[in-house]
Amino acid sequence: MLAAAGIGSRRACESLIASGRVMVDGQVARLGAKANPETAAIQVDGRRVAVRDPIAPIYLLLNKPIGYTCTAHDAHAERTVYDLLKNVNERIFTVGRLDEDTAGLLLLTNDGNFAYRLAHPRFHLPKTYQAVVRGIISPWALTDLRCGILLEDGMTAPADAQLIETDRKRNVSVIQLTLYEGRNRQVRRMLNAVGFKALALTRMRFGNLTLTGLAPGTYRKLQSGEVKELMMLAAQHEANAEIPPQAEMPCDEANE
Ligand code: URA
Repeated sequence: MLAAAGIGSRRACESLIASGRVMVDGQVARLGAKANPETAAIQVDGRRVAVRDPIAPIYLLLNKPIGYTCTAHDAHAERTVYDLLKNVNERIFTVGRLDEDTAGLLLLTNDGNFAYRLAHPRFHLPKTYQAVVRGIISPWALTDLRCGILLEDGMTAPADAQLIETDRKRNVSVIQLTLYEGRNRQVRRMLNAVGFKALALTRMRFGNLTLTGLAPGTYRKLQSGEVKELMMLAAQHEANAEIPPQAEMPCDEANE
């Protein structure tokens, strides 16, 4: 109850209780004992503490259109993703970011632990992007994208790269790229490194989530099962963290 009410982390609250520093209604609190947050008089180190109602977690999946930034306080931004949200009065933040000129799947939450597990590279959650590029992508470029590319901030991890279609008349290709890390402007930089410019970029998938049923500019709440599944995926990927993520097609077979 103390942790949910914002007194401190669960561990910090347990240690306060274990060391006898918490009193509930004049009695030293015991670990595991229940108290009614609405009526109990709670003191820590002899001082009364106000127990706030637990903050309800919020998890939103937005289909971000281009032209919106992910920064909450950007004096130069004309439009931010927060302009698209209605009746959200809590302070929420994006899980990672999409560039202003990138569209697609963006998660927003007020749950710091959730955001950390989904955005931190150590959890390797797969994110799939669809890019329309100028030019006809060669098998060699796809192999480089899969195997890793030396960018100014180091080698990229193995990725999945699939050619979806080419249009020789318009001189464009559509590719799908699944990354297991999330560096700044990573897809655009990887494409540039193999000689292609992204004309349009959309994030289609994040872990188990897709944009199905969501028009650009609209959003929905995640179901609790979806939140649990994402957290489980993050835990699995963390457990496998010693093993580098595998691209679907091994690099040495990619050109065969
Ligand atoms: N990679 C990019 O280049 N831009 C994004 O917005 C996301 C991934």
